[in-house]
Amino acid sequence: MIVLFGATGDLAKRELLPGLWRLAQAGLLPSRYRIVGSARSARTDDQFRQHAKDAVTQFGQGEPAGEAWDEFAGSLSYGAASPADPEPLLDAVAEAEKAIGGHARKLFHLAVPPQGFTSTIDMLGQTGLADNARVIIEKPFGTDLASARTLDKTVHATFDESQVFRIDHFLGKESVDNILALRFANGLFEPIWNRDHISHVQIDVPEAIAIEGRAGFFEQTGTFRDMIVTHLFQVLGFVAMEPPTSLAAKQLRDETSKVFEAMPPLDPAQVVRGQYRGYRDEPGVDPGSQTETFIAARVEVDNWRWSGVPFYLRSGKSLGQKRQVVTLGLKRPAMRMFALEPAVTDEMHSNRLVIEFDDPGWIEAHFLAKEPGATRRLGEAKMTFRYTDSFCTQYALAGYERLILDAMLGDQSLFTRADGIERLWEVSAPLLDSPPPVEPYDPGSWGPDSIHRLIAPHRWFLPSNP
Ligand code: BG6
Repeated sequence: MIVLFGATGDLAKRELLPGLWRLAQAGLLPSRYRIVGSARSARTDDQFRQHAKDAVTQFGQGEPAGEAWDEFAGSLSYGAASPADPEPLLDAVAEAEKAIGGHARKLFHLAVPPQGFTSTIDMLGQTGLADNARVIIEKPFGTDLASARTLDKTVHATFDESQVFRIDHFLGKESVDNILALRFANGLFEPIWNRDHISHVQIDVPEAIAIEGRAGFFEQTGTFRDMIVTHLFQVLGFVAMEPPTSLAAKQLRDETSKVFEAMPPLDPAQVVRGQYRGYRDEPGVDPGSQTETFIAARVEVDNWRWSGVPFYLRSGKSLGQKRQVVTLGLKRPAMRMFALEPAVTDEMHSNRLVIEFDDPGWIEAHFLAKEPGATRRLGEAKMTFRYTDSFCTQYALAGYERLILDAMLGDQSLFTRADGIERLWEVSAPLLDSPPPVEPYDPGSWGPDSIHRLIAPHRWFLPSNP
């Protein structure tokens, strides 16, 4: 049984309800299941079913219909809950349990705002619902080290860490998981995956959307907390980790935690904070706001494999294009014997591995090849992997879908762990304590001009053509 707190909220509408429907369509939900929605306001089961239908119509694959939908809708019920009155929820859970028959394992998904978090967890503990259950927690996992620790304390007062699934939907993306396969299932890439061969790494997640009416959330959060300390650092963990001894949750998460341990605290002088022009005019935004809508940062992983290799991270709103790309720039060969085509302006810019991890994702190796004919001049060439060329992608799952499924199965390997999160806040502390002033940038651009100084002598891979 899944109990979805925040069932009438934005995340449930955009991701969770359409995702659950897709899991049902793919036959990945258990044969007997129930989904109980919960929020503060009262609703009937039918109202919640209609809400789910609207969500799937708007954010899923169009208006659902037919027997399969009727069956899915029939599995949905609703029970309001507040700290003072959890009764309607308890009744709905009891009903759902009866419908499933036998003792159903419960998975709670807490898609609630931070203010509602502690009271929901406490209520799960006090009512006994937490016993033997699993819980999915949504970011923000605190706003700094102290609040992350408090949050972990709250969670651990009710749940053992083995019951906790901290979701970062980037880790559920097909192409992010594939970084592990690319590296550790092949003899081709891993031997060069280190400081001897790689000059720098870019993890670049520009977004074309602005804040989309989320001023309240964004003013409190900003791009660093919304994107970097969560998603981009987690992707960095996969790119930089040592080979785990197995793919089991403990081993994988031990390795990402070691990467975070090896990251020195951020140097604010190596961070560009930007704000798009017009942000301060958005409804609900403080006209003098210093909240950043853009971050570019140079970070390091100070260990045997990566010492001296800079990792450049960038993310922001209202940028030129939505992309999600990891680029590994390769070092120059020992000597150059070939001439370059005039079009090749930067030899090293043509020597790299590019992983696009926005669904459906692809990987490209960029290299120099000899121009055909009686010449030794080099031009730019590419080898490309696309999922659709090699696999039937009908059953590919979006990040949330994959992770909800894993949580149902009790597999924590793609979920973040308390110690890793706390370390990332520790790494972030100098920036949070002394943030550089925000620099303006034009909507549709790629950020403030100073990002080029930050990455020199390298260059940002984006913008570039896919
Ligand atoms: C969310 C952030 O976690 O991730 C959003 O809060 C951001 O600000 C989104 O737009 C990006 O995710 P996706 O699914 O587009 O890769």
